[in-house]
Amino acid sequence: MPDQPPAPSALEPLGGLQRTHYCGEIRDSDIGTNAVLMGWVHRKRDLGGLLFLHLRDRSGISQIVFNAETHPEAHAKAETLRSEYVIAVEGPVVRRSEDTYNPNLQTGTVEVVARTVTILNTSDTPPFQLDEDDHAPVGEETRLKHRYIDLRRPQMQRNIRLRDRVNRAIREAFHSERFLEIETPFMTRSTPEGARDFLVPSRIQPGTMYALPQSPQIFKQLLMIGGSDRYFQIVRCFRDEDLRADRQPEFTQIDVEMSFVQEDGVLSVIERLMVAVCEAAGKPAPELPLPRLTYAEAMQRYGTDKPDLRLPAMHVVTDLLAPGDLPTVGPLVAIRIPDVGQLTRREREQFRDFASEQNLRVFDDFRGLTKKMPDQMQAVRDRLSANEDDFLVLATGLSPASGPRPDESVLAAAGNLRTCIGEAFSDRHGLLRNDDIRFLWVTDFPMFEWSDADGIWTAAHHPFTAPHENDVDLLLTDPGACRSKAYDLVLNGVELGSGSIRIHREDTQSKVFAALGFTPEEARHRFGFFLDALQYGTPPHGGIALGLDRLIMLLAGESSIRDVIPFPKTTKGTDLMCEAPNTVPARNLRELGISLRVVPKG
Ligand code: AMO
Repeated sequence: MPDQPPAPSALEPLGGLQRTHYCGEIRDSDIGTNAVLMGWVHRKRDLGGLLFLHLRDRSGISQIVFNAETHPEAHAKAETLRSEYVIAVEGPVVRRSEDTYNPNLQTGTVEVVARTVTILNTSDTPPFQLDEDDHAPVGEETRLKHRYIDLRRPQMQRNIRLRDRVNRAIREAFHSERFLEIETPFMTRSTPEGARDFLVPSRIQPGTMYALPQSPQIFKQLLMIGGSDRYFQIVRCFRDEDLRADRQPEFTQIDVEMSFVQEDGVLSVIERLMVAVCEAAGKPAPELPLPRLTYAEAMQRYGTDKPDLRLPAMHVVTDLLAPGDLPTVGPLVAIRIPDVGQLTRREREQFRDFASEQNLRVFDDFRGLTKKMPDQMQAVRDRLSANEDDFLVLATGLSPASGPRPDESVLAAAGNLRTCIGEAFSDRHGLLRNDDIRFLWVTDFPMFEWSDADGIWTAAHHPFTAPHENDVDLLLTDPGACRSKAYDLVLNGVELGSGSIRIHREDTQSKVFAALGFTPEEARHRFGFFLDALQYGTPPHGGIALGLDRLIMLLAGESSIRDVIPFPKTTKGTDLMCEAPNTVPARNLRELGISLRVVPKG
């Protein structure tokens, strides 16, 4: 097609025309009927007397044939059509001759013979081709700048529709379990998730600001105090934090809270929800109950609290070797990557480099090791249940690690190495398949994390998380050893959701604030209204929030949440299409009683 479309010819009104079918839905059973289709010109092939056109709408593509002999007027108009013109076509559905069946189209055995065509709108030449067969890959910046065009692409249409199906399944699943969908405010005060807030200045009370919620955490707990019993919401949250492929400044949570439950009550509702979601997404539903690991077990076996179960667990094998067999620093960890056989030299170099970046020493010449110490290596193989074709590597610390838990840092580094090898060899060996959906729960997280920068304990989840029953006494004496009733749902190595049983007693809440180093005044200043509410008959309760964008990303097999969000921001927090954020006129600032002085960073 020529680069520049001609000036718009006389456009025609939609008038009384009524669509009979979506383009992607015409089938053999429609043969003989008269169809009216509406959509965008996707591709045109002009063979002189016959002109073939692919017409596209959100459901897919239909082939339209214009015949100069039988319908000269429609054919003449079709010759003026360009990419992305918006048209309506009317004519009978016919079977294609068998040699022209198109197996790539769901409508590939039929076509519509155009009797009339109505040109509803013209289009400038799009900045990129939508016709996926023959276009060069488009840069993400270009796609985001013209998102309204990008959204027409089949990949984006698929993701939008998947998201719609999943949203509907979520609502149905919750309603069938007697949950109420309740909305909570967006203009509020700071919420306790630990990222920076986005602030909105108040015009009526100059000098004060609302904070956009990082999550509805406090409100959903207040709803339990308010007697709502079972709450859910598909809700936007706002966090001013560093962005990456699975983080956006505004993102959507499936937010849940329940009264009169312990961990099992929350986990089992979410497990049933995941079955409903997988079914809606056309994925195999997971077997229930989902596997559960404590945080300590996850760290020991996978070196991470977000294990990817598509790869086998690691094993500590220090006990299988005699002292001095190998120079170890901290635990000796055995990693098995199944069925990859021998590595290429490049792959070996790649993972050795990664290992030393991780402060790990690796022993990957398993044949050599087996010659040197056959019994020990056989014992390692047995512990890992290794086959001949598996790739085995032993890893230990390269130099003594600092920090409060040096063994954990070797395990964490080995865990990173495990996923790095898995990812590096995934393409060649099909190790990490997108359609292999492996959920698990990680439970019993530590209650607190030590912040080196601030020299204080911080809440590992958030300050309303209940301590483990057996560890309440440790809150003030040994916070580092105190476990919590917090749990994460992990899917293929990605943290999908986090939640906890909450503190429902004011005395425990005060102890937790004290462990976090809040003076009673600070606690009152930040959460006074909430502490008051806790005094008025708070039921035992707990909940969770799942990242909807991440869930859809994984179900869609995408590697960025931007591809499942219609209008996302870049990693710099910019909306390239609207050009937000932007400066505002001085008049708006005056109304807010604000005068701006931008202080250089750093
Ligand atoms: P948390 O902060 O762990 O818990 O968030 C829950 C889930 O939300 C998703 N998520 C994000 N997704 C995209 N972009 C982001 N910037 C982002 N931040 C978080 C993740 C995460 O697992 N109030 C608690 C939940 C509770 O205790 O009930 C909370 O918000 O998938």
